[in-house]
Amino acid sequence: MTKQCPVGVFDSGVGGLTVVQQISQQIPEGRIIYFGDTAHVPYGARSREELIRFADIICQFLLDQGAEVIVDACNSTSAVALDFLKEKYAVPIIGVIEPGLEAAVSQTRNGRVGVIATEATIKSAAHKDKAQIRGADVFIVGQACPLFVPIVESGKVTSQEAYMAAKKYLEPLQKAGIDTLILGCTHYPFLTPVLQEILGPDVTVVDPAVETVRQLKKVVDSINKYDIIGSHEYFVSGEPEMFQQVGEKLIGHQKLPKVKQVSLNWGD
Ligand code: DGL
Repeated sequence: MTKQCPVGVFDSGVGGLTVVQQISQQIPEGRIIYFGDTAHVPYGARSREELIRFADIICQFLLDQGAEVIVDACNSTSAVALDFLKEKYAVPIIGVIEPGLEAAVSQTRNGRVGVIATEATIKSAAHKDKAQIRGADVFIVGQACPLFVPIVESGKVTSQEAYMAAKKYLEPLQKAGIDTLILGCTHYPFLTPVLQEILGPDVTVVDPAVETVRQLKKVVDSINKYDIIGSHEYFVSGEPEMFQQVGEKLIGHQKLPKVKQVSLNWGD
């Protein structure tokens, strides 16, 4: 029997399900405790202080539920809160920014990498900073896409609205000659068919979840704890029905366990 430790995963809403899908592929026996902060979605326009406070409260909740590793499956909080969280909590906490950058740096052929993300992530310049720290020889072009999260949260990922927004957001990146695009928000992989159709086959679209979960697997294997095999639990701060309905649609009409609403003390 395979052994796994409980993995806490959080995001502002359904976006982290793209990371859960990767966990299910790479660590099918993994136990997941998911938190979607649907009372506060979208995170993109929120301040650094707010994002750190939300991420902190959510991590404490996941630890109280028994998580022994946490995946910050939100680029916006990974960009601004990860250092704080790693400093504060003793468990391993994995973000999504560095894995995405790592994958893009290894895949680009012309060194021109686009990043589409929330306003908070683009404003943080986290990808550019990390690239500089790594000494990576890449030119990064960022583009905030504020319309995407509401589109994904309402499940309209193949709508005309999604297509029009994507065309507008991708144009400057295409003009900049990118050959690789980082999906710098965990909601965006649900838009991959639309994005790839506009970009064409010559642009590589990078979903950071793949590399994130590769790194998670190493951590989980090293902890080597027993737990309930493969069980998933879902919690949200807003109303659970919408998350349940849209989440199931986005993951290909598969069933999610019953999503539970929890009320946390957000300090506001
Ligand atoms: N999915 C999150 C991210 O990766 C947050 C999006 C949002 O709520 O604006 O940035």
